[in-house]
Formats: sequence, structure tokens, C-alpha cells
Amino acid sequence: MKLNNFSKLLLSAFVVMSLASSCVKEGPMGLTGPAGANGKDGKDGTDANQTCKMCHTPSSVDLISTQYQFSKHEYGEAAFEEAGNTGCTPCHAQEAFKYVVANKVPATFTKNATTGRWSNDYNTVATAAYGEIGCSTCHSSLHATYGSADIALTTVAPVSMTMWGGAKTIDLKADGGSSNLCVKCHQPRPQTNLQTGNVQDYVGIASNPTVLAYDADNDKATTNIVRPSYRMHVHYGTVGAIYAGMGGVEFAGTEQYKNSAHTTAASCIDCHMGAKGGKSDVVGRAGGHTFVAKGNLTTCNAAGCHSSAITSSSTTFWSTPRAEIKQLLNDLAAKLAVNGVNILNRNPDSEHNLWYGLTTNNYDGYLNVYDPVNNPNYATNNPAGTFQNPAPSSSWTADQKAANAALPKLSLTNAQYGALLNFQMCLREYSLGIHNYSYTKALLKNSIAILK
Ligand code: HEC
Ligand code: HEC
Ligand code: HEC
Ligand code: HEC
Ligand code: HEC
Repeated sequence: MKLNNFSKLLLSAFVVMSLASSCVKEGPMGLTGPAGANGKDGKDGTDANQTCKMCHTPSSVDLISTQYQFSKHEYGEAAFEEAGNTGCTPCHAQEAFKYVVANKVPATFTKNATTGRWSNDYNTVATAAYGEIGCSTCHSSLHATYGSADIALTTVAPVSMTMWGGAKTIDLKADGGSSNLCVKCHQPRPQTNLQTGNVQDYVGIASNPTVLAYDADNDKATTNIVRPSYRMHVHYGTVGAIYAGMGGVEFAGTEQYKNSAHTTAASCIDCHMGAKGGKSDVVGRAGGHTFVAKGNLTTCNAAGCHSSAITSSSTTFWSTPRAEIKQLLNDLAAKLAVNGVNILNRNPDSEHNLWYGLTTNNYDGYLNVYDPVNNPNYATNNPAGTFQNPAPSSSWTADQKAANAALPKLSLTNAQYGALLNFQMCLREYSLGIHNYSYTKALLKNSIAILK
């Protein structure tokens, strides 16, 4: 529709220009002079209409736009909810993403000389903190030249990880690095140290499992590195880090931290878009520019990877490893308990719990900590939380403060803190180990063992 109007506009501009030149006043004609020498042939011009049709056909952009309606990038609401927030939008809004890519905004943390506290530099600017994720988020050169180069991806560069303050980098080389585009957004967010504001030292946590990360009987202790809250979490995009085999709290144990073949042999688009990253690979509501893998196992063979078909009843490559990871998640959750009460929150709401069904008790990765006030950014907080919130808000009512004070306190050892983060990492990669079975299994098994 918009295209038609645009073409009409071009057409009418052309008509007005031709009319204008034929209306110039002229005097009587003089004698005809001798014929001049032939001029050189000019180069053929490009027919604008032809270059448009390279993309604007029912089988390309038009079709892809229809597929894209089934992508959560398009129908998800976070781009609206986080608009204006310069820290959230680099992953949630088009203009912010393009800004951090174009300006090579680093994933570092910087120490403030006055306060002595560290803060995250991975932000956009207030004037570029908006925009739904759309075609030009990932294809930022659209309409720059009207040539085929315009469809190039916004970035395929190695990703400096925000959770480490840029100290580690993910570089997934398959398919020209296209997975790096996805991982730039689909990566965990930093856990920060309570005392310094800098990124948490995962190596220190892993190597001192019995030390207290939070002592509930001494909230002001300078050794406390975290305060447990309902939303103490590594955020949602854990896939990128799990896929790359990075980003967990790597407790020593019997399991080695290795990667499965997918990490180097496959790319996100192989399984989420189809063999050619293409428009003809939609199966049900998955594949192509829906970016969905769920419900679609045709891609396991399509990219020439697995030679025999994989279906939801295949054992070796589907149900067996997934059942094993589900059991490990269940077992780890059971160990994360105080006097028989789960530290992890259960959420039986199949619509709002994005990980519904992945564990028997439907954990969502949040903590079972009291939090009575609904934050406008989130659907619900946790008024039913059964552990005391160590940082009650001044906005709570007297009743809420009293209810909180009556609840049992929650201290965390480094082992418990790290295991909680590992549970979140492995639950929120969604695939029950398909992304990176070896690394997921090692994180879960070694976490279970350290809690003995
Ligand atoms: C390299 C591929 C490509 C070429 C070449 C191309 N376009 Fe587009 N165009 C797109 C994409 C992708 C969109 C966004 C579609 C959407 O949002 O659903 C778009 C959108 C549009 C829109 C809708 C307004 C907008 O920005 O969303 C107009 C109008 C348009 N193009 C005109 C043209 C014209 C005229 C030409 C040729 C002179 C052309 N395009 C060439 C890919 C291309
Ligand atoms: C600009 C950041 C960004 C990039 C780049 C990006 N994503 Fe996303 N993706 C998101 C966000 C944000 C959401 C959730 C949107 C919402 O809920 O509003 C999402 C959602 C998704 C979902 C749906 C998850 C669900 O819960 O159903 C899939 C699948 C997905 N992305 C895959 C990919 C793949 C594959 C790539 C690379 C080709 C990619 N993404 C690139 C930010 C990004
Ligand atoms: C490093 C990138 C990144 C940053 C920064 C980031 N997010 Fe996200 N966020 C994501 C991705 C990716 C998803 C979707 C992951 C998925 O579903 O697989 C997501 C999902 C969400 C969701 C869930 C949406 C849904 O579908 O239910 C909310 C809410 C959210 N983010 C809020 C925020 C807020 C608030 C901030 C800033 C305080 C923020 N995000 C910063 C990457 C990021
Ligand atoms: C989340 C990132 C992302 C978004 C958003 C996105 N694309 Fe793509 N697009 C890709 C990737 C990745 C490929 C595959 C590139 C490759 O194979 O190297 C691709 C390929 C393409 C191609 C070439 C392949 C083909 O099948 O013809 C076109 C055309 C295209 N996209 C158009 C669009 C249009 C139109 C939109 C918006 C409706 C859009 N893209 C939105 C990531 C994205
Ligand atoms: C080897 C195939 C494979 C690769 C490669 C792959 N995924 Fe997945 N992905 C899956 C499967 C399988 C699921 C779970 C489907 C289900 O639950 O039925 C999934 C689920 C997801 C989801 C949840 C929404 C959905 O579509 O089910 C997101 C988000 C996601 N993957 C992102 C990524 C990103 C980002 C990459 C690249 C870093 C990636 N995936 C690479 C197979 C793959």
C-alpha cells in the first residue's frame, strides 16, 4: 500500500517536470544548421522500478513481512515498554540497537571517581531509545543504495559480552557469523557486586563455594556481594551464552565444561529460519522470518547436518537428552531449598511463565522472595513470596512491612547463589539442552554436586 503511494508520487513528480519544460516560451525558428557529429552512446541507466522489484515482489519482501508477523520481535511488547530507557533499548528497540552498533558502544563498566562505584557503559542515547524491532534493525542498510547489498546484516562482528563488562567475547563463526547478530541481543545481562557495582566475579564465586554471598543476619556486612530479591536474575537472553559455552558459574566437578557440536557446526538461522535463512522454509508457524524453532524439527536435516530424520519421538537426538536435562533442572531446584521450602519461584501460569512445562514444578527462574508491589514494567511481582525481602521499600504499607518481617530470612552461600544463576541460565535457554547439551549438563551436574 505504502509502496503504491510512493510510486504514484514518483510518477506524478515526473509528469509535472515534463509539462513544465514543454511550456517554456520560444521565439520563431531560425535556419537549420549542418548536422553535428554523432555523440557517444550514454550508459544505460538503471530502471528504478527494476531495482525495486528485486525486493518488492510477492515472493520476497511481501512474503517475508507476512512471516515476520509471527515473530515475537514484531508482536512482543517490550519495545514499547522499554522505550526511552537507554540501558534496556540496545536490545529492545531498533534505533538503539543501530546506535550501539554504529557507534561501537563498548560493553565495559567504568568507575565513577567521586562515588567509587562502577556503572555499565552499554547504553544508547536518549534520542535513539525507541523503535520496534523491524526489518532495518537487522538489515540496517535498507534503501541506502537500492541494490542487493542493502540486505546485508547490521553486524556479524564478534560480541563483547555485557555480563563480563566486555572481558570475554563470543564469536560464532558458522554461516559468516550471522549468529553474532542474534547473540548481540540474546545474551545474559550482568550480575553486579553489591559493594562496588562492578560485574560479579564468577571465578571467585565458583572457587569459594562455602563462603556467604549474602548473610541475612548481617545485612550491612561488607562481604555481602548480593542481596536476594524476587528478580535477582541474569535476564532472558541466556541462549547466546549457553550456545557459546560461556556465562555459567563453572564450579569444579566431575563433569568437564565442553561444547556439543552445534556450537561450531551450526548457526542460529540453521534451526530457527531454515537451510537458506530463507523465505521458503516456514513449517506451521515456525521457520523463515518467524525465527521460531519450536514445533519444527525439519531443520535438523535440512542444513545437511543430521542424516536421518529427527522427530519429536526420536530418542537419541531429542527425547532422551531433553528428559535428562529436565530431570537435572528438577533435581537442582529441589536442592535449592531451605528447611524444605524452595528458593526458586513456581509459576503455574502457562501464559506468563515463558518456561512453563520445562520443569515439573514450573519454575520461572525468579526467587521465592516477598515483593508485594506491582511494578508497572512487569505483569506481577510476588506478594505470595515466602522468604523475607532484605530491602523492603519505603512505599510499602505498614501491613506489608509487618508481613515481610514475619517471614524467614534467606542467606545464600556462593554455592547457592551460583547454582541459582546456573539454573536460570539452563532453564531460560528454552531447549532443554538442544542448544548445547554438554555445557548445560556440566553446569547442572556440577551445581547439584556442590550443594551436597
Ligand atoms: C534490498 C531490498 C530492497 C530494495 C532494492 C528496495 N526496497 Fe523498499 N523496502 C525493503 C524492505 C525490507 C522494506 C520494509 C518492508 C516492511 O517493513 O515490511 C521496504 C519498504 C519500502 C517502502 C515502505 C515504507 C517503509 O520505509 O517502510 C517503500 C515506499 C519502499 N520500500 C519503496 C521502495 C522503492 C521505490 C524502491 C526502488 C527504488 C525500493 N523500495 C527498493 C526492501 C527493499
Ligand atoms: C535487536 C536485538 C535482537 C536481535 C538482533 C535479535 N533478537 Fe531475537 N529477540 C529480541 C527481543 C528483545 C525479543 C523479545 C521481544 C519481546 O518480547 O518483546 C526476541 C525474541 C526472539 C524469539 C522469540 C522468543 C520467545 O520467547 O518466543 C526468538 C526465537 C528470537 N528472538 C530469535 C532470534 C534470532 C534467531 C536472531 C538472529 C537471527 C535474533 N533473535 C536477533 C532481540 C533481538
Ligand atoms: C543485552 C540485551 C538486553 C538488555 C540490555 C535488556 N534486555 Fe530485556 N530481553 C532481552 C532479550 C533477548 C529478551 C527475549 C529473550 C527470549 O525470550 O528468548 C528480553 C526479554 C525481556 C522481557 C520479557 C518480554 C516477554 O516476552 O515477556 C522483559 C520484560 C524485558 N526483557 C525487560 C527489560 C528491561 C526492563 C531492561 C532494562 C532494565 C532490559 N530488558 C534490558 C535482551 C535484553
Ligand atoms: C532479527 C533479525 C532480522 C530481522 C528483524 C529481519 N531479518 Fe531478514 N534476514 C535476517 C537473517 C539472519 C537473514 C539470513 C541472512 C543469511 O542467510 O546470511 C535474513 C535474510 C533476508 C533476506 C534475504 C533472504 C531471502 O530469503 O530472500 C531478505 C530479502 C530479508 N531478510 C528481508 C527482511 C524483511 C523484509 C524483514 C522485515 C519484515 C526482515 N528481513 C527482518 C535477519 C533479520
Ligand atoms: C541445533 C538447532 C538450534 C540452533 C543452532 C539454535 N537453536 Fe534455538 N532452539 C532450538 C530448539 C530445538 C528450541 C526449542 C524448541 C522447542 O521447545 O520445541 C530452541 C528454542 C529457542 C528459543 C525459544 C523460542 C523458540 O523458538 O522455541 C530462542 C529464543 C532461541 N532458541 C534462540 C536461539 C539463538 C539466539 C541461537 C543462536 C545463538 C539458537 N537459538 C540456535 C534449536 C536451535
